[in-house]
Amino acid sequence: MPTLNWIGKDAVVDHHRQVPYHLLRCDEKLSVGDPGSGNLLVQGDNLLALKALLPYYAGQVKCIYIDPPYNTGNENWVYNDNVNSPEIKAWLGKVVGGEAEDLSRHDKWLCMMYPRLSLLREMLSEDGVFLCSIDENELYPLKLILDELFGRQRCVGTICWKMRNTDNRVKSRLSTDHEYVLVYSKGGPLVGRVIDRSDFKNPDNDPRGPYVTDPLTGKAATDDRPNLHYRIENPATGDSWEPDPARGWITDQAGFNSLLSEKRVWWPPNPKRGKPRKKRYLSETSERMPVSSFWTEIRGQTGADEVDQILGERLFAFPKSLDLITRLLDIACPKDALILDSFAGSGTTAHAAMALNLADGGTRRVVSVEMDPQIAENVTAKRLRRALEGYQDLEGTEVPPIGGGFRFCRLSHPIFDENGQIHPEVRFADLAAHVFFTETGEPIPKRPTGKTPLIGVCNGTAYYLLFNGVLGDKRPDGGNVLTARVLEGLPAHDGPKIVYGEGTRLGSGRLSRQDIVFRQVPYEIETQ
Ligand SMILES: C[S@@+](CC[C@H](N)C(=O)[O-])C[C@H]1O[C@@H](n2cnc3c(N)ncnc32)[C@H](O)[C@@H]1O
Repeated sequence: MPTLNWIGKDAVVDHHRQVPYHLLRCDEKLSVGDPGSGNLLVQGDNLLALKALLPYYAGQVKCIYIDPPYNTGNENWVYNDNVNSPEIKAWLGKVVGGEAEDLSRHDKWLCMMYPRLSLLREMLSEDGVFLCSIDENELYPLKLILDELFGRQRCVGTICWKMRNTDNRVKSRLSTDHEYVLVYSKGGPLVGRVIDRSDFKNPDNDPRGPYVTDPLTGKAATDDRPNLHYRIENPATGDSWEPDPARGWITDQAGFNSLLSEKRVWWPPNPKRGKPRKKRYLSETSERMPVSSFWTEIRGQTGADEVDQILGERLFAFPKSLDLITRLLDIACPKDALILDSFAGSGTTAHAAMALNLADGGTRRVVSVEMDPQIAENVTAKRLRRALEGYQDLEGTEVPPIGGGFRFCRLSHPIFDENGQIHPEVRFADLAAHVFFTETGEPIPKRPTGKTPLIGVCNGTAYYLLFNGVLGDKRPDGGNVLTARVLEGLPAHDGPKIVYGEGTRLGSGRLSRQDIVFRQVPYEIETQ
């Protein structure tokens, strides 16, 4: 399979593995409503944030939508649209080293995207769908790196949506009026488009109920499929039709006769205008239909207005519209999906998901990540708070609350320092999630309360962590050391056990008789 190369690629291909795990800390003041709603807004560079979130969400996300900077070279936006933001510049210098000086803005963009996409891939569930907005600036390189990371066979296609109705007056005279959404699915097909029941009618009182009609012809030239080229006749009127030479009927004469006897053929009232068609009944149609890749009827330019109405002023340029994101979520994920947007901007994805929940009773949850602290606090969090609690728009109309809530978090210290020592702020729950994930590759099944050292069971093996005096004994090594008494107090498990602790007083014979593998904290914890 062809792959893309650029200066700096070697330095970033495996970089996501070296990114240190950081703590996430909740800011109660910026959090809103029900903390158990499962919605999360993280302020921080998504490289660190995604790594910090992996122990909680790896392989769990049903739908990832991202709208990364398009790399247009335009720096006059609220956020930097190219990769020259101070954070990304500093990061590139560190990761790519001396070569970073020679990078073009396209190299830099790819260096920025690759490790982030690698982490996003790890977040996606087996049946998950990945959607990425982009325009012509980076469409083609992006397609190649997504093929490389997700597998070309997983590319479902590219949605092309019309984002402008007026000419874009550019020197080239080619007014680019569309954008793209690249779609990859790790597992099954898209959820699809909900059928519109009002399209189904019953003008002739067919006892099978309302129906729509589909063409009875398809591409099939006379020479290739002679059995699909024959004359058909309306038995009631005697009118008859033959297909065009390049298009045959969709079934042979015998198949057509069955349709006829089942009264499934719809005859055009005027034989000179239109051909017979096949009835498709509402009662036989699945609720979900395939989605066209070409979206012309989208309200794509309303995003800025929507955000202005909520915030009362222009604080964010070029957000996506609720119409676009609602449609994407609707076709890509089920009603109970965990959704992730790691370039959250004004928070359209979270807003759209919450509004969809209100409309269809769904339980979608959204994890959003926004790097810029100003945007995260004054735009994303503020927009979501207003949408959830209700607000007055610029015309003075009261917009009712959606209800629900989200937690606002920031990245804090790395869990381990450069010598592998655990940061003093690390709590039992933080380390438990980390240990369980690095051992099993699975997210921790339940957020630990710190009341039991049993942190989870995976494939028949139980994992225990003795840390921070989880057993109530606060002496320096008390409760964190596996002694005979501690062993007796461990919640029972019939099968192999892995126990993490600061030390053990049990001999290797006793450990193996009890089916225990002991690992020392912090030295035997994987730190990356
Ligand atoms: C194109 S905007 C997304 C707009 C969003 N879809 C909306 O409807 O509002 C990209 C956003 O990603 C943020 N961003 C850029 N680099 C980031 C990074 N490394 N981590 C997290 N956010 C980042 C920018 O600050 C900006 O707000």
